[in-house]
Amino acid sequence: MCGITGYIGGNKTTDILIDGLKRLEYRGYDSCGIAVIDARNSLYLRRVSGRVGALDKLVAAEPVKGARIGIGHTRWATHGVPSEDNAHPHTDCASQLVVVHNGIIENYLELKEQLLFAGHKFKSETDTEVIAHLLEEKLKTLHVQEKAVRSDMLEPVFFEAFRRMLADIKGSFALSVIWARCPHMLLAARMYSPLVVGLGKGENFIASDVSAFLKHTKRVVFLNDGEMAAVKEDGVDFYTFQGKKISKDCVTIQWDSTMAEKGGYKHFMLKEIHEQAEAVENTLRGRLLPLGGDILRREIGLSADAMRSFSGVQFIACGTAYHACLVGRVLFENFGVPASADIASEFTDRAGLLSDKTLVVAISQSGETADTLFAVREARASGAKVLAITNTVGSTLTREADYVLHTHCGPEIGVASTKAFMGQLAAIYLLAGHFAAARRLLLETDARSYAENLLKMPRLIEEILEQEKEIAKVAQGFASSEHFLFISRHINYPIALEGALKIKEISYVHAEGYPAGEMKHGPIAIIYAGMPLLAVAPSGRALELMAGNVEEAKARGAEVVAIVDSASKKVIKASRYITLPLADELFTPMLTVIPLQIFAYHVALAKKCDIDKPRNLAKSVTVR
Ligand code: G6P
Repeated sequence: MCGITGYIGGNKTTDILIDGLKRLEYRGYDSCGIAVIDARNSLYLRRVSGRVGALDKLVAAEPVKGARIGIGHTRWATHGVPSEDNAHPHTDCASQLVVVHNGIIENYLELKEQLLFAGHKFKSETDTEVIAHLLEEKLKTLHVQEKAVRSDMLEPVFFEAFRRMLADIKGSFALSVIWARCPHMLLAARMYSPLVVGLGKGENFIASDVSAFLKHTKRVVFLNDGEMAAVKEDGVDFYTFQGKKISKDCVTIQWDSTMAEKGGYKHFMLKEIHEQAEAVENTLRGRLLPLGGDILRREIGLSADAMRSFSGVQFIACGTAYHACLVGRVLFENFGVPASADIASEFTDRAGLLSDKTLVVAISQSGETADTLFAVREARASGAKVLAITNTVGSTLTREADYVLHTHCGPEIGVASTKAFMGQLAAIYLLAGHFAAARRLLLETDARSYAENLLKMPRLIEEILEQEKEIAKVAQGFASSEHFLFISRHINYPIALEGALKIKEISYVHAEGYPAGEMKHGPIAIIYAGMPLLAVAPSGRALELMAGNVEEAKARGAEVVAIVDSASKKVIKASRYITLPLADELFTPMLTVIPLQIFAYHVALAKKCDIDKPRNLAKSVTVR
């Protein structure tokens, strides 16, 4: 999500940190900052809401002397709006300890309450700030007061306090801290969020990805989950969170810096496709169990009573997010909750028919799409409550909605949305599960199996991603096709639409997504010999009918690629198959969409299209 840099060694600390942050800019961010310890062991902290260029100017205007250690951060807001106060690094009460963090501290509210009770003063709305205060508290319990600890004991004490702090925090994190009283050691730790150490000569680095320091060293050590590093000028020691020293292999990176930005992938879109298991984990983390309990009330103010009070749900969005809405509609209706889904720009008069009994769910990756915002305003004017599902903290949509469910997917750079869509799906399943359980439409055992199915998704997504090469081969066979048809039924019909949209967006060829049953009412006329038709046909109640529709298409000459699982493969007769792991039909959209994204990507790649920046399209459309 966000970016971390850290450095210890020579006296160009601020330059190195800022240069590192500039190299992380591609990840997308809204604010940034650095903290270093100067020659007099005082903390120098500078943060800005905005670009690294502005931070650079600020630091140049008041240069710091003799700093040999520091940390830096580009923040992409997850808790608290983008602002200078919420920008990292964050300090403890005494401004002696300073921390940068990527990820989400799940139990930060609980920790913050305890720390407030112990007298700590918070300066930001972030989850990260608890780390600095908690560490301060741990140092206190180790009796560290001014002069009370011998200087040679400061390092082991700092290390032990850090280790104890790690034991108390839950969630996902890559983090690094420095302490003004102990300026010869930087500490860093990883749990579910990437962190890498760069080994130099008389200097060492840490970063959330290698591109930050690749200019200085290509010798790196990747931390695993549950590992930490004590980084000094002359060497780095690695430990488990339990404090056991471990030896780690050093790897030499062969990438150049542009490759490094994309994590070795050729395009951001491909990188983001491969980040989808993580996107689901991040969206679900700490929010699923118990279904129907008061998790959503605590996080977003939506109580079980409120969920029971709505007579129905109205989804609105544009583009890919609209396809997520269509999945949402089927899902809510599956639980017996009346639901409808509309394209925001076509919502017009329907807004006037709403009342305070309707929950409007507005979905937008950016939270800035003009059509969606306009529809939200109209809906609110009719008295409806609005729940926003968005990836962007502090966006206009979050300010106008009554409830906000963030997807926590990290910035999406590729214009064609992939991981943000996956996060939207995860958020919809989460919401539907809580809704159904609160309304007693999902009783205890079913609720458990619903949650288990959802928690299995990241692993199944990974399994599909491993098939990229085979899917690419199928796609390459159609690189010169000028028309594509995508068909499916019920909960996967929106995925057929999404498959067609992906290929249109990045390959500039004509593609249509259609409900399979509707083909015979017109579109079947366009089928010609050799026309590619992708049939999304996992096992489930639509299967027999899908098999019939595939036969009809084949009889007119279509070249069928079937997206199946091991059971439905026996029923669907196609010329090519992409086989997915078996899953409960209700959850299959989170799986079936992946081969279609990969397919579209490889068709576009074979056509040499500008995949991350397709012609005529914008990532965020702020005009109506
Ligand atoms: C643009 C983008 C699409 C996106 C749509 C809605 O058209 O190119 O990828 O799905 O806007 O954007 P939103 O930010 O509201 O999800």
